[in-house]
Amino acid sequence: MTPRASDIPHAVPQPVATPLTRAAIFLVVTINPGAGHRAAIRSFCADLAALVRSVGFREQEGTLSCVLGFGSDAWDQIFGKPRPRELHKFREIRAGERHAVSTPGDMFWHIRAQRMDLCFELATQIMARLGPAVSPVDEVHGFRYFDSRDLIGFVDGTENPKGQDAIYATLITSEDPSFAAGSYVIIQKYLHDLAGWNALPTEKQEKIVGRTKLNDVELDDKVKPTYAHNALTKVVENGKEIKILRDNMPFGHAGQKEFGTYFIGYSRSPLTIEKMLENMFVGKPPGNYDRLLDFSRAVTGNLFFVPSATFLENVKAY
Ligand code: HEM
Repeated sequence: MTPRASDIPHAVPQPVATPLTRAAIFLVVTINPGAGHRAAIRSFCADLAALVRSVGFREQEGTLSCVLGFGSDAWDQIFGKPRPRELHKFREIRAGERHAVSTPGDMFWHIRAQRMDLCFELATQIMARLGPAVSPVDEVHGFRYFDSRDLIGFVDGTENPKGQDAIYATLITSEDPSFAAGSYVIIQKYLHDLAGWNALPTEKQEKIVGRTKLNDVELDDKVKPTYAHNALTKVVENGKEIKILRDNMPFGHAGQKEFGTYFIGYSRSPLTIEKMLENMFVGKPPGNYDRLLDFSRAVTGNLFFVPSATFLENVKAY
């Protein structure tokens, strides 16, 4: 039965659709076994907004924000039933040399601000507050690079939906009324073979991405290959393009020649991003895969559910 508008609880979302920032921390943890941790995490949920206010108020122009997500097993452990309809573990994909790995992760924080000190302070306070309840799995400090480019040199984020379109693309409404204003987020940490990529002629790189490098204009369909990144990630259903919201960030360690892109995509259904991943890794049709993957390796992969801010505020410690 299709729910009526009046069945949909009025909920405030977490700050999923926020404008791009100069800095971000992507923090993934697992929950440790042990009595008391469930209560500790539940009481943390209700207090997260206050923690963000405390840190953010110290530098209001820093636009600090934080989104918290939960993995499928963690959801059952911390909240039980009901559970978000489409929440499941990230499904790995293997195709040829390409592998979209699925890696451990129970909780995820996407911390964004105009300054890294704000992100770092909040991450520090979150970890201090959760103490022995969690173990860190991965922490990536991302930075905005020239003209919002990724480290492969292309402007990243241009075709993101904006304003109401971003909200429509990311927030659940009547399809899962108990979790209205929630969202799904998929993250993947990619490492690039930058030397190999930079050895390609610019024209070849542009065909792989599907846009010009210098001025970021979409290639004409007459010259854009069907394997272009922006062709494979275009998902159309019933004649309508289904958008997702990305906030990719470069990261790296120059001395260790580590150059990466942290992919993060929000969507009201994980199916959309899963379809994009299948097109990229397996190919559309199979074999016609994303050549970015000849120069980029996914070393993490997770799917999390992002409940509404209202849901988090109302979590009781017991
Ligand atoms: C190696 C990692 C990745 C890099 C360096 C990368 C880079 C880019 C660049 C440069 C663009 C064009 C500009 C723009 O519209 O943002 C783009 C577009 C896009 N990417 Fe990625 N991307 C990566 C991974 C992914 C993944 C894993 C997905 C989804 C599963 C994805 C989905 C999209 C979508 C939906 C677009 C917009 C397509 C359009 O409507 O034109 N990207 N990406």
